[in-house]
Amino acid sequence: MRIREARFLKSALNPAQYPRDGRPEFAFVGRSNVGKSTLLNTLLGRKGLAKTSSTPGKTQTVNFFDINDKVRFVDLPGYGYAKVPKTLKEQWNRVMTGYLRERKPLRLAIALVDARHKPTESDHHMLDLLDEAAVPVLVVATKIDKVKRSQRQRHLAQVRETLELDEEALVLPFSSVTGEGARALWRVIDDLL
Ligand code: GTP
Ligand code: MG
Repeated sequence: MRIREARFLKSALNPAQYPRDGRPEFAFVGRSNVGKSTLLNTLLGRKGLAKTSSTPGKTQTVNFFDINDKVRFVDLPGYGYAKVPKTLKEQWNRVMTGYLRERKPLRLAIALVDARHKPTESDHHMLDLLDEAAVPVLVVATKIDKVKRSQRQRHLAQVRETLELDEEALVLPFSSVTGEGARALWRVIDDLL
């Protein structure tokens, strides 16, 4: 898709605040600090559109972005970050899973994992939740710029095995630093529209 216009629409804490026009949505899910907001910006070629930070816990609400008055990107709070108070963690979780569980316009959850590390138990739980909610998922291994070329296949295989993905399931290597994977990801999105 050629991006004519990309703009922040609104933040929401609960379903009553979600947009109601039924436009197709693509949501970004993953652990805190994995790079969800950065990936969204990279896809749109707009650096500061979604707020990012080197410290986890930046995105705390469901944030809707309109693209070409046709598609919506949805930036979500992360999960799995140990160093925040339990009540706050539970709130982010409620906000995020509240969206994923029953959002009719949701076409695809783009599930980010850090290409450097073995996916965690919480990543596994997230895929289970999406599966139960019958949400289509694409796994993206981001920060691939941090993985040595010689180690790449091993890391991608580790993601696939740890998450117990089907052999034919795509694990897309991505980097917001080099832009690798952005075209491939757009192709997946465009195909669903
Ligand atoms: P929360 O909103 O806190 O859940 O985090 P998030 O998943 O939205 O992460 P965010 O996009 O804020 O990025 C976290 C950090 O990772 C920032 O310092 C980014 O610059 C960095 N980062 C994101 N993507 C990449 C990438 O592809 N490569 C590298 N090297 N760093 C990245
Ligand atoms: Mg974020």
